[in-house]
Amino acid sequence: MTDQASNQMWGGRFAAGPDAIMEAINASIGFDKRMAAQDIAGSRAHAAMLAATGVISDNDAEAIREGLLTVLSEIETGTFQFSTALEDIHMNVEARLKEVIGEPAGRLHTGRSRNDQVATDFKLWVRDQLDAAEGGLLALIRALLTQAEAGADWVMPGFTHLQVAQPVTWGHHMMAYVEMFGRDLSRVRDARKRMNESPLGAAALAGTSFPIDRDMTAAALGFDRPAANSLDAVSDRDFALEFLSTASISAVHLSRFAEELVIWSSAQFRFVTLSDRFSTGSSIMPQKKIPDAAELIRAKVGRIFGANTALMVVMKGLPLAYSKDMQEDKEQVFDAADNWMLALAAMEGMVKDMSANRAELAVAAASGFSTATDLADWLVRVLGLPFRDAHHVTGSLVALAESRGCDLPELTLADMQGVHSAITQDVFSVLGVENSVNSRLSYGGTAPAQVRAQVARWTAILDA
Ligand code: ARG
Repeated sequence: MTDQASNQMWGGRFAAGPDAIMEAINASIGFDKRMAAQDIAGSRAHAAMLAATGVISDNDAEAIREGLLTVLSEIETGTFQFSTALEDIHMNVEARLKEVIGEPAGRLHTGRSRNDQVATDFKLWVRDQLDAAEGGLLALIRALLTQAEAGADWVMPGFTHLQVAQPVTWGHHMMAYVEMFGRDLSRVRDARKRMNESPLGAAALAGTSFPIDRDMTAAALGFDRPAANSLDAVSDRDFALEFLSTASISAVHLSRFAEELVIWSSAQFRFVTLSDRFSTGSSIMPQKKIPDAAELIRAKVGRIFGANTALMVVMKGLPLAYSKDMQEDKEQVFDAADNWMLALAAMEGMVKDMSANRAELAVAAASGFSTATDLADWLVRVLGLPFRDAHHVTGSLVALAESRGCDLPELTLADMQGVHSAITQDVFSVLGVENSVNSRLSYGGTAPAQVRAQVARWTAILDA
C-alpha cells in the first residue's frame, strides 16, 4: 500500500486517496447497506463453491464462512462500523472480514468481481421484495373477498363518467379490484420466475479462468440456474425495471381504489365509513374525519412511477457491460419497494375495517334513472322493439320523469302509455333496483349469484 489513504481494495496503482467530493459521489454504502444479508449469503455460497472446486482450501473457506456470520451478526446488532471510504457494502463486509479472520479473507474475491457480486445481491434483494409483494397482494385480495362475500347482494350505483349508469352490487365492485390485484399477483410471480437466474461467477464481465461451479452457487442461493451470458449477467437490470413497472401498475390500481374511497367516504356520498384506525382528524375543523391513508396511497403512484422512469432513463443508453451509472438503481428500487409494501398494507387495513353504508348505497342505486336500461331491455324483450327504438322511447320517459321531478318507477302506467301505447303494467317489475341486478346473470355480470361464483372461484385459487 503506497498511501495510507488509498483504498485497500483497489489502491495498488494509486498514490493518493480520493478527494472528499469524489468519495461523496462515489460511495453507495449509505443505502446499499440494506443488502448486507444478501451480500453475505452470496459470499458464503461463493466461498463454499471455491473450496468444493479446489480453488481455495477447505480451511480457508470455513474461516471465511464463519467470519461472515460474525460480520452479519455485527451488522444485525448494530455494532458494525460502516465506512464511506470503503464505498459500498461489498468492500465494507470484506474489509471487516479481514479484520476478523485475517489472511484467508483475501481469498474470497477469487473468480468474482463486484460487478457480478452487486448484481447477485440486488437480485436477491428484489426477489425478497417480490415475495413480500406477493404476500401483501394476497392479504389485500383476501380482505376484498371478505367484503365481496358479505355484500354480494348489496345494491349500489354503478358509474360511467362518474354519472349513475346502472345498479351494481357492492360485491361486484369489490371483485373488480380482486381482478386487478390478481393480475398484479400474476405479474409478480411471472417476474420472479424470469429473474431467477444467478449472475454470480460472471465475474467482471467475461467470466473467469478459475474452474468455478456456477450451478453450485446458483442452487445455494435459490436461483433456478446461472445466467447464460456473462456480459448480460453483470449489466442486466431488467429484474429491477420489471419490479418497478409491476409496482407501478399495482400502484395505479391502489390509487384508483384509494380515489374511490376518498369519494365514497365524503359527506356527499357517504357510501362507506372508514375506521378511526385508518383516518385522521383536522386540527381546526372538529367535524372532520379525513381519509389520509387513502389520499397517501393515491399519491404513492407518483414516486413509484417516478422510480420506474428514473431507472429506465439511467439504463437506456448504457453500453455493455457494467457502468457505474448502474449504482443509481438501488435507491429507486428501495424507495418504490418500501412505499408499495406500505400502500398494500394500508389498503388491506382500510378494506378490512371499512363498512359499507347499505342504506345510503341502496338509495343512491335507485336514483339517477339507473334502471333506464332495464326499461329499454323490457321494450325489446316484451314488445319486440328494435333496441334503438326502445332506447328512444326510454329516453322520452326519462325526460318526462325528469320534468316531473320523479324517478322512473313513480311514473303512472298512463304516463308510460302516453309515450308508447303498448306498454303494460308488467313494465314496473323491471324498474326495481334489486330486479335489475338480479337479472344481470351473464358471466362476469353483477348479479349476486355471479358475484358469489367469482368469490368461490378466487377462494379456490388462493387456497390451492
Ligand atoms: N457499488 C457498486 C454498485 O452499486 C458496486 C459495483 C462496483 N463495481 C465497480 N467496478 N466499480 O453498482
